[in-house]
Amino acid sequence: LPALAAALVFGYLLGSISFGLILTRLAGLGDVRSIGSGNIGATNVLRTGNKKLAAATLLLDALKGTAAVLLAWRWGPEFALAAGFGAFLGHLYPVWIGFKGGKGVATYLGVLIGFAWQGALVFAAVWLAVAFVTRYSSLSALIAAVAVPVALYFLGLRDVALLFAIMSVIVFIKHRANIARLLNGTEGKIGAKG
Ligand code: G3P
Repeated sequence: LPALAAALVFGYLLGSISFGLILTRLAGLGDVRSIGSGNIGATNVLRTGNKKLAAATLLLDALKGTAAVLLAWRWGPEFALAAGFGAFLGHLYPVWIGFKGGKGVATYLGVLIGFAWQGALVFAAVWLAVAFVTRYSSLSALIAAVAVPVALYFLGLRDVALLFAIMSVIVFIKHRANIARLLNGTEGKIGAKG
């Protein structure tokens, strides 16, 4: 058990690196938390108008999740699960910035890539389809987060499916404000300036 906790903490430390915040600061764009939704994720970085920076944020926030899973894998699958969950929690609650992190979507996808590329494909297909039709990043993520645990279950990855079901619930909780905006028609569309 202490070893599993160590894997969780290891993942947490990787996940708690807030790339959206770091990259926008390095680019001299100020604090991304003061624009748009106030979030530190790629969707909100895109609201600065810098597409490359948004893409880099998405990539790095995802890769830290993938890295946590793959690095912990050598100790066994349960350690990979703990490290992946840790990375997700680290992104959501980073100790460095008062535990006020992101909404977890990119890191969720990164952890998923570490476990099952088929699941990541399902995520990408659903996200892109919903985004193409609605232009809402949040809605795309929420529907993908419903599809992924179901897909993992039918792929026979029961433990991974359970982890992602838990993470999906947390993704929904983190998107409370987005859900309220979607319902009253005030949610910002992808790429619209904040
Ligand atoms: O990945 C986060 C996305 O689903 C919503 O981001 O900035 O519109 O709240 P944002």
